[in-house]
Amino acid sequence: SPQDCQAYRASILHFTADPAFEERAHAWHEDGLLIVREGRVLAAGDYAVLRASVPEGVSIEDHRGRLIVPGFIDTHIHYPQTDMIASPAPGLLPWLETYTFPTERKFLDEEHAAEVARFFLDELLRCGTTTAMVYCTVHPSSVNAFFAESEKRNLRMVAGKILMDRNCPEFLRDTAEGGIRESEELIKKWHNNGRQLYAITPRFAPTSTEKQLRLAGELAREYPDTFLQTHVAENTDEVAWVKSLFPESRSYLDVYDHYGMMRPRAMYAHCIWLDDADRRRMRETASAASICPTSNLFLGSGLFDFAKADAMQVPMALATDVGGGTSFSMLQTMNEVYKVARLGGTYLPALRMFHMATLGGARSMQLEGTIGNFAPGAEADFVMLDPKATPLLARRTGRCESLEELLFAFALLGDDRAVASTYSAGRQVHARAGQQA
Ligand code: GUN
Ligand code: ZN
Repeated sequence: SPQDCQAYRASILHFTADPAFEERAHAWHEDGLLIVREGRVLAAGDYAVLRASVPEGVSIEDHRGRLIVPGFIDTHIHYPQTDMIASPAPGLLPWLETYTFPTERKFLDEEHAAEVARFFLDELLRCGTTTAMVYCTVHPSSVNAFFAESEKRNLRMVAGKILMDRNCPEFLRDTAEGGIRESEELIKKWHNNGRQLYAITPRFAPTSTEKQLRLAGELAREYPDTFLQTHVAENTDEVAWVKSLFPESRSYLDVYDHYGMMRPRAMYAHCIWLDDADRRRMRETASAASICPTSNLFLGSGLFDFAKADAMQVPMALATDVGGGTSFSMLQTMNEVYKVARLGGTYLPALRMFHMATLGGARSMQLEGTIGNFAPGAEADFVMLDPKATPLLARRTGRCESLEELLFAFALLGDDRAVASTYSAGRQVHARAGQQA
């Protein structure tokens, strides 16, 4: 269209602040207009106000009846585990041994990796997820295959090569220096290459030597705008293992702290078995907790403690953790996190859950202004939700009397079927079968 500009009329919801802690956190336009130019947000607001700003010659696409929200952000997911989702095991450590390691072995083959990456990205987009923090495997080929596919689609993705030089099968092992060297080469090749961003990715403390952890911390200091991702305090057996491997450390999280791995853009998955001193360090260092409810319930790992995390204002984000997680859908992830919070005595309004899955994720990654909401100039990554996607959703949303009720229905009843279409950098990257463009 003229000037590479598009305009979409629909209901619009996005956030400018965190509804759990700040006033006037969301913007809601029941009859809204989203104007996109050259892949970025030009404006989002009321149709009646903005329609005059639509450039001449640009026709307004009419999507009334749908809800536009920013693309979902999944802050922790393993693309190589796609093919082993829903694999049974009695807990994290046997699950890793029985399913994860043999599955990840196959990613030495770049063609296999590329095929899985294509399916994985298709599935994310079907679910409305436009940005994810992704674990590859120990093989650099797995990273190259993933980023090549993401770059082809011009998606905003974060990913990295797993670092793992002990306590794992020989066929998945790197070395302390070799793994760091490969990571640095991948940073130079992919970080800020188009929309691709690199995450330094020690799998978790038990599978790295002290030397590898030290070098990972040094690499993170050398490249301060890269991301860093790992697992912490997911499972009590794992916590006990870490205590035996690192007897001098005050806590599991303290192992990472000791090696300089707590900093902005560090994403710690799970954070279930932390104490208040750990939580204070999360807040002080602007490290974020990535909450993975479907995984934690599936593997029986435990319940994330919202009351304690809120009391310490720990930076928080939401994630699927596929293949430990059981759904690619951030809506299904909201459904589960709602119940996890309830069991711990915390009530999560749907507005807060939608914030966590959008702007909250972006903030936890220091990407506010780039993704996560419709601030002018932000990348136009967004989703159109269909309140009539299923007979039950249609029946329930037809009776909603508030925005909160509508969002709650999407969170509790929604999944990939509720996502009519997905856009990345202004371009449609998914449309549900039977939906208009
Ligand atoms: N801890 C170390 N590796 C993994 C993994 O692949 N999945 C999960 N859920 N936890 C881990
Ligand atoms: Zn994980």
